[in-house]
Amino acid sequence: SSAPFPKHFLSTDQLTPGQFQGLLDLAADFKKSNINTDLLHGESLLMIFQKRSTRTRISTEIGMQRLGGRALFLSSDDIQLGVNESLKDSAHVMSRFGSAILARVYGHASVLELAQESSVPVINALSDKYHPLQALADYLTVQVRFYFMLSHEHFGSLKGLTLAWVGDGNNVLHDYMLAAPLVGANIQIATPEGYNAAPDVIAKCQKLAKAAGTRVVLTSDPIEAVKGAHVIATDTWVSMGQEEEAKKRIADFDGYQVTKKMLEHAAPNHIFLHCLPRHKEEVDDEVFYGKTSKVWDEAENRMWTVMAVLAKVLGKKAPIREKAGV
Ligand code: CP
Ligand code: NVA
Repeated sequence: SSAPFPKHFLSTDQLTPGQFQGLLDLAADFKKSNINTDLLHGESLLMIFQKRSTRTRISTEIGMQRLGGRALFLSSDDIQLGVNESLKDSAHVMSRFGSAILARVYGHASVLELAQESSVPVINALSDKYHPLQALADYLTVQVRFYFMLSHEHFGSLKGLTLAWVGDGNNVLHDYMLAAPLVGANIQIATPEGYNAAPDVIAKCQKLAKAAGTRVVLTSDPIEAVKGAHVIATDTWVSMGQEEEAKKRIADFDGYQVTKKMLEHAAPNHIFLHCLPRHKEEVDDEVFYGKTSKVWDEAENRMWTVMAVLAKVLGKKAPIREKAGV
């Protein structure tokens, strides 16, 4: 697609199928060549974190280093933002120093406000509504795993695959489900009553799926969701900021633990994904540490994919070899 790449990277619903696939192909190329370059020499990324992070922080700092740029990690314990200075004023000041801002915040409105007030690109590093960097890493992991199944004609697309989700209708699910129709994949989602995905995200996903000719299944039955699926993903039942609801949530998610027995209903060559951090209640050890689990590849892929986003929003023409695969 020839649509201009969005200035800010806030959620998957901003991207065309071509833009999403383009990021996966660029990330795959970076991975294949184990890239270390000076592409972003002189560029700096300001990283604001209002919540904890292992993967997002490390993958972005190391990724920025591999691209020849510099990243500054700014936790809310260190900077004035939100405590002693408004988001708006912080955004204006940071735009004078950095080439781009990456932010992990509580409310999605905070990312939107940062984007509104910044003259430089803003990248969402997780809000209560979206986690687009995670979806890229997940789909890169899927693309690599099912590479052999993809026809030459549709190289790089995941046409015909079925992705499943069993668990909370949260930020990670939102981008995961929006991405499925973008790559031509079906999506089957099981969430307990009261923990569905956001209605506007469901509507957008259904609209995209209609245009792509793919399937969206919404159910409260985990078995129905995993039936025939090539990819099964889940996430914590208690997201950051929901700690007070932990007891009720864990009770409400009874029956949603991903187990080996549950996955007998999945495709025989399925893989299991989890964005991490993981807790035992949502997936048992047998699956999580088992042969079909690709969670460590998925974590590594956070780096190659965020590098693709950084190269893209900073406007660099990264050399892409002809449809590199991995
Ligand atoms: N998956 C993910 O975003 O992990 P962190 O919270 O460790 O960054
Ligand atoms: N849903 C989780 C994802 C963490 C990466 C949370 O928001 O805490």
